Amino acid sequence: MDGARIIDRLRPDAEGERQDLVEGLFASHARISPKYFYDEMGCALYGAICRLDEYYPTRTEIALFQANRDEIAKAIGPGRQFVDLGAGDCGKAQGWIPFLAPRRYVAVDIAAHEIGKSLARIAPDFPGLPLVGLATDFTHALDLEGVLDGSPALFFYPGSSIGNFTPKEAVRFLSCIKGQCATRPGSTLLVGVDGKKDKALLDAAYDDALGVTAAFNLNVLRHLNARHGFDFDVAAFRHVGFYDEGEGRIEMHLEARRDTAVHVDGRERVFHAGERIHTESSYKYHAAEFEAILGEAGFATIRRWDAPAGGYFVFHAA
Ligand code: AVI
Repeated sequence: MDGARIIDRLRPDAEGERQDLVEGLFASHARISPKYFYDEMGCALYGAICRLDEYYPTRTEIALFQANRDEIAKAIGPGRQFVDLGAGDCGKAQGWIPFLAPRRYVAVDIAAHEIGKSLARIAPDFPGLPLVGLATDFTHALDLEGVLDGSPALFFYPGSSIGNFTPKEAVRFLSCIKGQCATRPGSTLLVGVDGKKDKALLDAAYDDALGVTAAFNLNVLRHLNARHGFDFDVAAFRHVGFYDEGEGRIEMHLEARRDTAVHVDGRERVFHAGERIHTESSYKYHAAEFEAILGEAGFATIRRWDAPAGGYFVFHAA
């Protein structure tokens, strides 16, 4: 594709990955990392989730960006290296590029199959803008060697994906971004954060009437069957998604409808009826709670915008 450089730093370690998965499945409280949601089917289902009536974060963030576009762009400044963390279809960045006039756009995502397609889609709109695709699991480590130069960067982390880390993990991840900022003076972070709100609204957002979130959650089993040769009976599980007010987080689980088993490397893991596999948490924050997390991560200058309808925040931090 003209103009786009694709760098693959996924460093697949099939054996290590399998070991982590097996450890999670055979734990007494079984778990699967949410990173396995995002095969091609999962990306398509996530795109559908973002269009659901019940799933408010996407449209709320879009409204916030639209209402504050000029002010946020002014705070960031022009000519930055625009690093889009979890770029997906590059749709969110597409709206920003004309306002930010970046010197380079870097789409970072674990879904390698999406990046090339997404950059090819937006390339005609931005002739002359260097486009880079970086396939990597940036939640573990962000290796930008040879991708960025030493000039100021904007690290763009929209969509409230920061909520998919625990608060401790979020501090660690944001400290790593702060480290990246420190090596390029003048760099900043723009991050979208979902607020704590009414339980009924949150429950519906993660358990919609059409069953799209259920399909998204169940698809992780289909993906693992295809990727690792597991033999999950997808129909033997059902989606469970709810807001735990005490923990301040959404929890998603796959619950066995009846006794069922998965076989891995000659071992059997039985799931008794009602037993759950934890697949995702999505933390929600009061503005002050997230400000404290940014502070712990080393960000000292913090500015915040609130969604017109409330309950969603965007922070610009340096
Ligand atoms: C990607 N992430 C911000 C979504 C969220 O809201 O936690 C993933 C998702 N899971 C279910 N619906 C959406």
